Amino acid sequence: MFCVNHHTTRTVSHVTGPLSPHSYQNDWDITEEEEGGSPTTAIKNQRAVSWGTATAAYQIEGGWRADGKGLSIWDKFAHTPLKVFEDDNGDIACDSYNKIDEDVAVLKQLRVNHYRFSISWTRVLPDGTTNYINEAGFSYYDRLVNALLAENIQPHITLYHWDLPQALQNVGGWENETTVERFKDYADLVFSRLGDRVKLWITINEPYNVAMVGHGYGVAAPGISFRPGTLPYIVGHNLIKAHAEAWHLYNDKYRAKQNGMVSITINSDWSEPRNPYKQEDIDAARRVIQFYIGWFAHPIFNGDYSETMKTIIRERSLAAGLSKSRLPEFTPEEIKRIKGTYDYFGFNHYTTVLAYPLNYGNLQHYDGDRGAGTVVDRTWLDSGSGWLKVTPFGLRRILNFIKKEYGNPTIIITENGVSERGPIDLKDYHRSYFYEKYINQVLKAHLLDNVDVRGYTAWSLMDNLEWATGFAERFGLFYVNRSDPNVPRVAKESVSLYSTIINCNGFPDPASGPHDCLKPGPEGNQRCSDSSSGGKNKPDTMIN
Ligand code: NOJ
Repeated sequence: MFCVNHHTTRTVSHVTGPLSPHSYQNDWDITEEEEGGSPTTAIKNQRAVSWGTATAAYQIEGGWRADGKGLSIWDKFAHTPLKVFEDDNGDIACDSYNKIDEDVAVLKQLRVNHYRFSISWTRVLPDGTTNYINEAGFSYYDRLVNALLAENIQPHITLYHWDLPQALQNVGGWENETTVERFKDYADLVFSRLGDRVKLWITINEPYNVAMVGHGYGVAAPGISFRPGTLPYIVGHNLIKAHAEAWHLYNDKYRAKQNGMVSITINSDWSEPRNPYKQEDIDAARRVIQFYIGWFAHPIFNGDYSETMKTIIRERSLAAGLSKSRLPEFTPEEIKRIKGTYDYFGFNHYTTVLAYPLNYGNLQHYDGDRGAGTVVDRTWLDSGSGWLKVTPFGLRRILNFIKKEYGNPTIIITENGVSERGPIDLKDYHRSYFYEKYINQVLKAHLLDNVDVRGYTAWSLMDNLEWATGFAERFGLFYVNRSDPNVPRVAKESVSLYSTIINCNGFPDPASGPHDCLKPGPEGNQRCSDSSSGGKNKPDTMIN
């Protein structure tokens, strides 16, 4: 039986829509009591969810110069002193470039339906253009895809997970509109080579981070921070166009034959008013959301930037004496071309913030445009990452927000997870707690709120290079012993929890037990939700 974890059927009084004063404090969905023991409730209607886990090329592959790979902006950034914590880099990382069998073995152990990984653009096109195709690089992805399919694990490929070819950065990178064409050529090549077997695609991962963290705050590659009120918006504009062009390319040239799904992965925190009874805080929370998820989702799902972003940025630009808005404009043709370029909503989510208005005066910066400060509730549990507080309720709320704001799209959660720091301890109880609570909120959204969630992807399969914080922050279900020359993957405790959730397709109802799916090992392979399929984990469940 596919079900949520407790007595929730009578508690769905709050469904997130526009924020209202009662939305935070009066909703006991937020409290720990709700997550406590008490009877579980089976939900009779069952719909399929595909379960998976994710990684990204630069974070795990290593082989930074192997077999003709070109250099990316992350190779350069990480080799620049003081950019990455302890000067860590992805030269070797988890050595996944040489460990297809090991990676597939741990995926099998997890019993995932899909595996999300990214392609390193410079491994297949060393200078970023199709002038030279690096066949050795392609062979790695070819073998990986085949190995996954042989185990009935569906590949879910991200084309761009932040590692732009340095050769393209040298001519302006994402600030230069020609990068849109280069991305399209790259996408064309990858669809043509792998699309016969790969049916799930993500064009760009977390455009917010590329634009803002890489080109505004400058703490990720390419590390630019000197035009924080202008450059992120230009970069964001080109990223949206690049995504739309890749989607159209697939739609026009490949869809009929390959029959896959292409989208973008957008990340966002959920945002609540700091004081739910104060209109200014409610407005600030709305702005945070429109400047975060809305920056990219609005043009792609609804058409054009939101009125909130357009008005605020224009007014602040003109007030500062500029002749036009710092937010670039789409032409009417572009608005039409971009709107609807999705086959699902790819969504990364980790945490929630509490917002209040903050006036930055005349400061021409994204933060000033957003005009909000954020804090967290001190009762929320910490993680290994300063920005990540454990707030499961926010996931259900933002899923409901996506449903309402963007026309009830099919959603695939392409990342969700938690980190730790400090001494290695395979007993990662905080991670098991995190996944149990967050996944339960996903199931509530799916089963009780009718949000069309079809996939859930845990970040990450294994400990890896957490960008500028290096290897110190560990998100993995598997620990990677990088001081052993074999770089072995070792299961943390949470592997058993997650693989059981996968095997049971959620949380089985004890009242209708015993459940075979709870048994560890091969005899536990019967999926409790899926008697019609003979108990097999069918990777195609997400698409149907
Ligand atoms: C976002 C990114 O896509 C991924 O690369 C990163 O490691 C995780 N979230 C955790 O921060």
